[in-house]
Amino acid sequence: MDKWRVALIGCGGIAHGKHLPALAAREDVKLVGFCDLELDRARRAAVQYGTPDAIVTTDYRAVLTPAVDIVYVLTTNDAHAALSIAALEAGKHVLCEKPMAVTSAEAEAMVAAAKTAGKILTVGFQSRFRADVQYLKQLCDAGELGHIYFAKALAVRRRGVPTWGSFLSRAKQGGGPLIDIGSHALDLTLWLMNNYAPRVVMGATHHELAREPHPANAWGPWDPAAFTVEEAAFGMIQMANGATILLEATWALNTLDVGEAQAVLCGTKAGADMKDGLRINGEHHGRLYTFTPEMSGGGVAFFAARTPEDTGRLEIEHFLRAVRGEAEPVVKPEETLVVTRILEALYQSAERGEPVFLASPPGGTPHGGPAS
Ligand SMILES: NC(=O)c1ccc[n+]([C@@H]2O[C@H](COP(=O)([O-])OP(=O)(O)OC[C@H]3O[C@@H](n4cnc5c(N)ncnc54)[C@H](O)[C@@H]3O)[C@@H](O)[C@H]2O)c1
Repeated sequence: MDKWRVALIGCGGIAHGKHLPALAAREDVKLVGFCDLELDRARRAAVQYGTPDAIVTTDYRAVLTPAVDIVYVLTTNDAHAALSIAALEAGKHVLCEKPMAVTSAEAEAMVAAAKTAGKILTVGFQSRFRADVQYLKQLCDAGELGHIYFAKALAVRRRGVPTWGSFLSRAKQGGGPLIDIGSHALDLTLWLMNNYAPRVVMGATHHELAREPHPANAWGPWDPAAFTVEEAAFGMIQMANGATILLEATWALNTLDVGEAQAVLCGTKAGADMKDGLRINGEHHGRLYTFTPEMSGGGVAFFAARTPEDTGRLEIEHFLRAVRGEAEPVVKPEETLVVTRILEALYQSAERGEPVFLASPPGGTPHGGPAS
């Protein structure tokens, strides 16, 4: 069987943590290109996972050769758009890590490049492949929650500031927990609601605990001088159909109410949350109920995608299905463009101290004018 020839641009934490093990486990894939600005990282990944003649380079253009079919863009956020567009223009299918891009203009250009090239572009929101999320998506799509008019997108860490790499750098990442882990929570929430029409957002960011190093952090104390992004962000998003989403995204917050890549959904027929595993709530024959579906596949752990490794495996499985033309990608770039648009508007709102409108209300011009 011919194998898909895959190249990676960016050989850091997520390459080793998610993609390389999942790609290496596939018989229909060979890893033929490794690019990183730090040559040692590209070399290390190539030695461990690559073909003997794999390309090892610091220049992304070297992996955009006819000898490559698929490119994984796994760099810091600042380079996602330019590298994905270059790869699409070179005729490659692309999986770009989340967040799709820093700005909505970049994300729009990525969608346009994929259309022009006629290639698959998807984004690494692997939480969509979790067993609980897949199950809840089925319920939502079948209308079992009714009209979902209130939701929370939750990404709350107590002391989980990523102190490695460039996560604290606004220039490299475009923001802090809002664009980092808030993007996962918002992506899940919009996808489950199947609602991609935001109307207006109000956002607030905080830079309070970041001013001093805190030794209790999961990845060690941070350097306050390097901490140029927010440590916490909160937002309210009103959708065109009147639905409200509250978003909480923190790396550091004095709270015991933590949870990440979670959505709370409240519909006219039922609700759902993911507090201690998936719970569905509602009213049945005059009684309130709470229902906790079993995610372990009837006791056979093999069937459940619970671990990060499993979601990585399912992510590549579905991506390759889309590349073969057998299915639509599960994570569509038109959807993740809306995630980027909302995150960008939340940052703008926080900076300006006023709401940012993304669409006019039915029949009128919004007070404050459209988003710039
Ligand atoms: N899906 C997830 O849950 C998840 C988890 C962690 C990180 N991520 C995302 O993955 C991306 C990378 O994060 P990470 O933790 O691996 O960071 P990292 O700093 O460990 O690795 C990034 C690598 O990209 C390289 N790089 C940067 N710009 C480059 C360029 N122009 N050309 C070639 N190489 C370049 C850097 O040298 C570095 O080795 C980020 O966008 C992050 O948001 C996603």
